Amino acid sequence: MSKTDIGTQDPKSMDPADVARELEWLAGEIAAHDARYHGEDAPTISDAEYDALRARNAALEAQFPELVREDSPSQKVGSTLQDKFEKIAHRVPMLSLDNAFSDDDVAEFAVRVRRFLKWPEDQPLPMTAEPKIDGLSLALRYEAGALVSAATRGDGAVGENVTANARTISDIPQSLNGKDVPDVMEVRGEVYLGKQDFAELNARMEAQGKATYVNPRNTAAGSLRQLDSAITASRPLRFFAYAWGDVSAVPRTSQMEMVDLFASWGFSVNPLMGRFDDVDGLLDRYRLIEEKRSSLDYDIDGVVYKVDNLELRARLGFVSRSPRWAIAHKFPAEKAVTKLLDIEIQVGRTGAISPVARLEPVTVGGVVVSNATLHNEDYIAGIGSHGAPIREGRDLRIGDTVTIFRAGDVIPKVMDVDLSKRPEGSVPYKLPDICPACGSAAVREINEKTGRMDSVRRCTGGLVCPAQAVEKLKHFVSRNAFDIDGLGSKQVVAFYEWGLIANAADIFTLRERDARSLKKLKNRDGFGETSAAKLFTAIDARREIEFQRFIFALGIRHVGEGNAKLLARHFHTVEALLEGMTASAEFAGPAWEELVSVDGIGETAARAAVQFFNEPHNRSVTDALLQQLTVLPVEEVKSDSPVAGKTVVFTGSLERMTRDEAKAMAERLGAKVAGSVSGKTDILVAGPGAGSKLKKAQELGIETFDEDGWLQLIGK
Ligand code: IVH
Repeated sequence: MSKTDIGTQDPKSMDPADVARELEWLAGEIAAHDARYHGEDAPTISDAEYDALRARNAALEAQFPELVREDSPSQKVGSTLQDKFEKIAHRVPMLSLDNAFSDDDVAEFAVRVRRFLKWPEDQPLPMTAEPKIDGLSLALRYEAGALVSAATRGDGAVGENVTANARTISDIPQSLNGKDVPDVMEVRGEVYLGKQDFAELNARMEAQGKATYVNPRNTAAGSLRQLDSAITASRPLRFFAYAWGDVSAVPRTSQMEMVDLFASWGFSVNPLMGRFDDVDGLLDRYRLIEEKRSSLDYDIDGVVYKVDNLELRARLGFVSRSPRWAIAHKFPAEKAVTKLLDIEIQVGRTGAISPVARLEPVTVGGVVVSNATLHNEDYIAGIGSHGAPIREGRDLRIGDTVTIFRAGDVIPKVMDVDLSKRPEGSVPYKLPDICPACGSAAVREINEKTGRMDSVRRCTGGLVCPAQAVEKLKHFVSRNAFDIDGLGSKQVVAFYEWGLIANAADIFTLRERDARSLKKLKNRDGFGETSAAKLFTAIDARREIEFQRFIFALGIRHVGEGNAKLLARHFHTVEALLEGMTASAEFAGPAWEELVSVDGIGETAARAAVQFFNEPHNRSVTDALLQQLTVLPVEEVKSDSPVAGKTVVFTGSLERMTRDEAKAMAERLGAKVAGSVSGKTDILVAGPGAGSKLKKAQELGIETFDEDGWLQLIGK
């Protein structure tokens, strides 16, 4: 379960030490969500919660500018890229859109545009309105009319080359025929998966015992970023064209005409797009689109308004990362009123006890909802915030009439309770303080970092808790972990109950034990000769596994896919990892220092990993797994650059490039970039304003360069 407990204290009245701690937590948290969202297409929180994290970060930084961290999310742009695809640099950056949340915001946008252009009040300023498609943007480059490349947005500056996959999408023409096709024409738009197609795909996944997908957008993203285009081709992806990037000559003078031209070349364009002279017209179209939203076969999350005239657009230009000439008017979260029938308790793989609301089924935005997350006991008690909190000071009781909302794709949340409808004699809800699965004490720990009580209650049963064991197994076989065909959550639960597997290592001895068993798998409920044989083959297919998947699959607390990847890249081999973990057992010494200086790995995750691998049972399951598996090492980047294999730390400000860019450049040359200076540091690059790190490096006699010196060193 993801943690989104955002501080609520007014920054003005906060102590700098607390602010610093919270900013540290926010930096780690947001980075982890970024990795999940962009890197793995598997977010664990809603967009609204994510926005709330960033907003909190911004509010704290505004009050305490001196506490802005080097790794603050406000200092970074966009997403992390994966290694699996070649990169394509966008000749025209792929920007994002500013958001409007109300009619007033839209009116203000129009005023800003007019003011900027000094446009007379009585003169119409046409703008277009069109649905904001909830997919992923794609840039298609055509040269002499032929499709030559397709790139994802990536971080806006550099995207991933997914050309082979894009060619399998039938909405994307392989060549442009028709009038006025410029020599170079980069068409941009949104790749998406229809709601119906998504539902059918999920039904198939379920029938095959595979994990189902969360929502159409992430499925579309995952489908487009397949290494095997045959998989992309098997997913009915679609594409709407709505914008353009690099072009040798812009063939029309307005948005509307450009989109019409796209349609004439064979692209799908959105039929709900219209052009209007004033804000009222835009807002009418917004309402129309909102009304149609649930009956459309694709997800949309708002309406985009764009200045129609391209000359005016050129004058308007950009502010930071968004155009001044466009804005996205977001839909409010969808709400419904229903009854809280019961509160059920789930035990997660790390023992977290999460209350889940069982609701009287109700339709919210076209989806029937019968449960909602309740996060933790503070939330139920009406204390503390959680993204969009239940109204402060109101507790939730079984039998209550509640308002729920769905923001985007995620599980709905309870946002308010109607006290006037509270049944007589209702009592405050109390979360059990013993684990319902194993009877062990369930306690709230004190967070080592913040000194505050954790909002989450945890089962202390650890290894004896069957619920934790099953959840660990479910995680182990999940899609981004071992992803074994035919072994989904359902099968894992059955196998656990039948006593066939108690831990992950047992999966790989299943065939051998089955051969000796009197009650064979093929004779069990839901299995037959073929399916049992298939399952064993699928298990064997996973006896070779990438290092980062292996680490992720172990289900170490605080080690999600992002941290798993960092650990894999840092240690290269599982042997080195285990050695490093053993040597760090005391949370001190060179191995520990090295671990915590790996850029991106926070102390919490490092600690959790060390604890995990030094816990005897975990170690023995890991060893048993390694008897059965080959964990593929992560190749060291080979490079003849003078910085290959060196550990580099950047400090102070850089003037010629952003820190991210500098970091990416260093990594491309085979260097490791660390966040802090230690005995392992080889090179310090210090810009103006460098402070304690520079001092420490000098004390340690570490080679130090300024930005120019560094560029010279790497031959730029
Ligand atoms: S225009 C300069 N039009 O929204 C930005 N974007 O927040 C030009 N999107 O990355 C984008 N539907 O992926 C535009 N009709 C639409 C859109 C749309 C969805 C996405 C796009 C972009 C994001 C910006």
